[in-house]
Amino acid sequence: MASSSSSSALRCSITISLLLLAFTYASDPTQLQDFCVAVSEAANPVFVNGEFCKNPATVAADDFVFHGLNVPGNTSNEEGSTVTHIFASQIPGLNTLGVGTARIDFAPYGLNPPHVHPRASEALLVLEGNLYAGFLVASDPENKLFARILSPGDVFVFPQGLVHFQLNVGNDTTAVALAFLGSQNPGVVTVADSVFGSRPSMDPDALAKAFRVDKSVINYLQKHH
Ligand SMILES: *[C@@H]1O[C@H](CO)[C@@H](O)[C@H](O)[C@H]1NC(C)=O
Ligand SMILES: *[C@@H]1O[C@H](CO)[C@@H](O)[C@H](O)[C@H]1NC(C)=O
Repeated sequence: MASSSSSSALRCSITISLLLLAFTYASDPTQLQDFCVAVSEAANPVFVNGEFCKNPATVAADDFVFHGLNVPGNTSNEEGSTVTHIFASQIPGLNTLGVGTARIDFAPYGLNPPHVHPRASEALLVLEGNLYAGFLVASDPENKLFARILSPGDVFVFPQGLVHFQLNVGNDTTAVALAFLGSQNPGVVTVADSVFGSRPSMDPDALAKAFRVDKSVINYLQKHH
């Protein structure tokens, strides 16, 4: 009797663990077909996985190609960096495939500021220059930082949903990196823009308390985002 109830408790806890695993590792839906080239016009579409797809008979090689990632992005902005991303809106054939890529250009000392991709892990390959890159370990009570100085050919991996950044430390040279992401639409939340640049603004008293600074510091930050 005791052993049967403990084995049913075990079965129950295994079922719950499997369910939790299924939620923990949720990502882009698995595709049900070779491809589902996204179309905005619903004329003559095929409806799969919740999206309109181009009729497979009219799909062509061009639906899977993007030209121009060799062109450097314009880094004349306050951060001194720019991200040119290639997701399903740039390559319609990426729709439902669960991958995306991006080119990141850095001016000397340019920063890709701390940000999060809610729906994708990322592998970053440095092509030119030297980057100081890292991420914050969310589950660590001490807020551990994992960071490295990267050189051309180095790859750094940023886990899904964790705050990460890259700074060009190449001493007056530009830098270029390619990012590979495990979603066709990874999403991006830039921490400073999100917190200090919201519309309408968040109550500065709440932010002063959260950041443990004077309200005038928050007013300044809100004005500059
Ligand atoms: C780069 O961006 C800056 C700021 O928006 C602009 O003034 C400049 O003309 C751009 N340069 C090129 C080459 O597009
Ligand atoms: C940049 O210059 C500093 C000081 O001269 C030096 O310590 C550092 O190694 C240099 N960094 C790179 C990436 O060359």
